[in-house]
Amino acid sequence: MVNQPSGKKSNQTTLHVTATAPSNIALVKYWGKSDASLNWPANDSLSMTLSQAKTTTSATMQPDAATPSAHRMAFKTAGSATIPMRDLGKTTRYLEWLRNEIRPFAAAEGALDILTHNSFPSSCGIASSASGFAALTIAAAGAWTGAKNMDELHRLGITRDLLSTWARRGSGSACRSIHGGYVQWIRGEAPTGQKVRPIFSPEHWPLADLIVVIDRGAKSISSTEGHARAFSSPLMSVRMSGLDERLKNAAQAIEGRDLERLGTIIECEAIEMHSVMMTSQPRTDYFGAPTIAFIQWLRESRAAGNLAAWFTLDAGPNPHVICRPEDADAIKGLILAQFPGCTLIHDQTGSGATLGPGQETHNANQGGSDGH
Ligand code: PMV
Repeated sequence: MVNQPSGKKSNQTTLHVTATAPSNIALVKYWGKSDASLNWPANDSLSMTLSQAKTTTSATMQPDAATPSAHRMAFKTAGSATIPMRDLGKTTRYLEWLRNEIRPFAAAEGALDILTHNSFPSSCGIASSASGFAALTIAAAGAWTGAKNMDELHRLGITRDLLSTWARRGSGSACRSIHGGYVQWIRGEAPTGQKVRPIFSPEHWPLADLIVVIDRGAKSISSTEGHARAFSSPLMSVRMSGLDERLKNAAQAIEGRDLERLGTIIECEAIEMHSVMMTSQPRTDYFGAPTIAFIQWLRESRAAGNLAAWFTLDAGPNPHVICRPEDADAIKGLILAQFPGCTLIHDQTGSGATLGPGQETHNANQGGSDGH
């Protein structure tokens, strides 16, 4: 149980937990679902977990909630102001589903106060839903069970695998952000047969990911809508027939630390996924001329021998440039000299989600909680 007598004043002592989950960049993408309600993917995917682009989410039990599902949620901005989340529908439905999943492990009673912060601009192709749902899942599991860290969750029977399965229901790609390093999401033969497994540790092959923020605006087509449109593309069946082989080749390139081989695969993969998007009904464009100019420049610079870097693109206009960590600063300099209007997030292979050391806060009768 989370609420315990404090033994001091008449206040209750409420556990305040903070989860951090990194974003991940898909090297072989998940695009299209076999079952939309269960987030059962049409294909296997393979990602690299990041470390700098991340979501930090705190959860505290509300002492004064009107109903158990009256969760309060807010975003913390860079200036540390908080903005209440307006559309709570999807998140509340997810939290109520999650509460039922947690019930075999703990009472999971009461409404949560949730405060969340992204270290990067949201909804523009930096997989904020991946890190967001991964962090929310772990924070809610901590607050509802009283576990203060991942070991305590594990001791209750809530393993990383289980957290990954739960996070997947919030947003498919979130299942990969629970784990570190290079992570494969295997579709299985049935929605219940899905598996997510880290196949190489971050130490096996640390790579840099320079996220080039060309456009900070939110994408106009959600990935949920994009996934649904994928099967209307005449290219989708061709894509599906080659993906298992591509994933196998990408995994081999990672195993052999062969950047040129991996880079060639991920560029082809990103272009193919966007070709499906652009040939879907209705047509779905996630980038325009500035992104095309960037890709063109990167490929020309590489062909001229100026840099060893390859791009990938998720559902947004902002390329991820994958290179060796020792080359990253020089490549950053070249990018910023050529595209001075862009900002760069210098990221690298990271080690997965965490649950922070719990902080005890006294918040009964105060209508809020410390740290929010
Ligand atoms: O998890 P979703 O529904 O936001 O879909 C993610 C889709 C891509 O980012 C484009 C690809 C991927 O595998 O992450």
